[in-house]
Amino acid sequence: MKVQLDLETCQGHGRCYSLAERIFESDDDGRSVLIMANPASDEDKAAARLAAASCPERAITCVEGDQ
Ligand code: F3S
Repeated sequence: MKVQLDLETCQGHGRCYSLAERIFESDDDGRSVLIMANPASDEDKAAARLAAASCPERAITCVEGDQ
């Protein structure tokens, strides 16, 4: 899986780094920073999917597959 974060779309809602703290963190303005672009474990993949589904701005995309 590959995780993509659209920094232009992120508005700092913060759900991603609250729900998936191994995948995202907050910058100084509360916007998201992608810290794990290629989650490998089932737990991390599930967290990334949950974050993508929870972002109100749809700023996160999970591309499935071995990439
Ligand atoms: Fe940004 Fe969405 Fe996370 S708006 S801070 S990517 S929940």
